[in-house]
Amino acid sequence: MQNFEYCNRTKIIFGKGTENQIGDETAQYAKSGSPFRILLHHSGGSAVRSGLIDRVKESLKKAGLEWVELDGVQPNPRLSLVYKGIEIVKKEKLEFILAVGGGSVIDSAKAIAMGALFNGDVWDIYERKAAPTQALPVATIVTIPAAGSESSISSVITDERGPWKRGANYEYIRPVFSILNPELTYTLPPYQTACGIADMLAHIMERYFTQEPHVELTDELCEGAMRAIIRNARTVFSGGEKNYDARAEIMWAGALAHNNLLSTGRIGDWASHAIGHELSALFDLAHGASLSIIFPAWIKYNIKENTPRLARFAAKVWGVDGAFYDYEQAALEGVFRMENFFRSIGLPVKFADAKLDPGKISEMAKRAVNFGPVGNYQKLDEKAVEAIYRLAAE
Ligand code: NZQ
Ligand code: ZN
Repeated sequence: MQNFEYCNRTKIIFGKGTENQIGDETAQYAKSGSPFRILLHHSGGSAVRSGLIDRVKESLKKAGLEWVELDGVQPNPRLSLVYKGIEIVKKEKLEFILAVGGGSVIDSAKAIAMGALFNGDVWDIYERKAAPTQALPVATIVTIPAAGSESSISSVITDERGPWKRGANYEYIRPVFSILNPELTYTLPPYQTACGIADMLAHIMERYFTQEPHVELTDELCEGAMRAIIRNARTVFSGGEKNYDARAEIMWAGALAHNNLLSTGRIGDWASHAIGHELSALFDLAHGASLSIIFPAWIKYNIKENTPRLARFAAKVWGVDGAFYDYEQAALEGVFRMENFFRSIGLPVKFADAKLDPGKISEMAKRAVNFGPVGNYQKLDEKAVEAIYRLAAE
């Protein structure tokens, strides 16, 4: 097990009706003596339709807080709206950013939070040309369990001029608190629920596929979390859209999958995310769907690399009985079951399922290794990434 430091400052407020605490929680960050004004950031879509934004405003008003609203965040959040947010925050001298929505809204809020206190172009941070030294505090009300941005240090933004999809990881942007009410997820379309499930499973798999030999506790935590996600996903997808307990298990798992507890003592892989981001950048594909296509192909490509670990994953997560298979067969049976699971909840597992153009594969492989080889399970250069896209397109 490797040395590590673990600290996650995000306060999680979890359960029914908790969004009504938003005013009082936010007010705790107000510096006494000055009026405290916040940026209320959201999509202008689902959270408005469900009445959530009205409830949030009510709670903020009750707590004596003032806000400026910026809506319009789209999935795969765009840099142009981030620029607009930064301008508003600077002009209005806002001190706190409240994101109400999914990973896209939260990531856009985090980018604004960095950009507002950054002397230069915020995109340079995502291009790894510059680093921030501070950010405004961000808090969230989560409406889709998926990205785990509610307690992560990451923000992923798309510069539509490329289009480029890039991530930035800084402790400054980890939310100060996040409100998670599973009831808010009842309105999710099945496809979005499924994308979220694929994303949280991928967050655990990226950490699980390590070459670190002795990380038994985190291995077991990862396997247990993945089993719980799969079981509760099946409940939700067999008529349990409003099953509070199943939705709650999935929502908590989404946060835990990406709050770095499951990374302790090990180095994760993260190639599938980098490879998947090109599908989102070029085809505006939902992030979770990019992962349900890429992860099975990534495992197939790695089938000879630490095969016992892949076989263990198949056994512990997908119930493959090792007595009937050798390691490689077991690993492949695990991938087969994973693909079937993704299909059963309506996700694509091949390029054709999502109508993606395989003609773009060479270009995407080049772009994916823009900052150098990706992954740690084994380092993947352009040729390897291209082979993974081809496996996913077969
Ligand atoms: O836009 P609206 O109308 O709000 O609809 C959204 C959107 O279309 C809908 N939705 C959300 N909550 C809903 C709802 N519809 C009905 N009822 C609700 N309660 O769901 C759609 C997807 O929303 P989005 O915010 O894009 O989803 P997600 O949370 O999956 O976020 C995806 C983004 O996060 C990034 C991804 O790359 C992608 O850009 N990621 C961020 C990470 C991080 N910051 O730590 C890590 C992840 O690996 C990921 O890369
Ligand atoms: Zn992800």
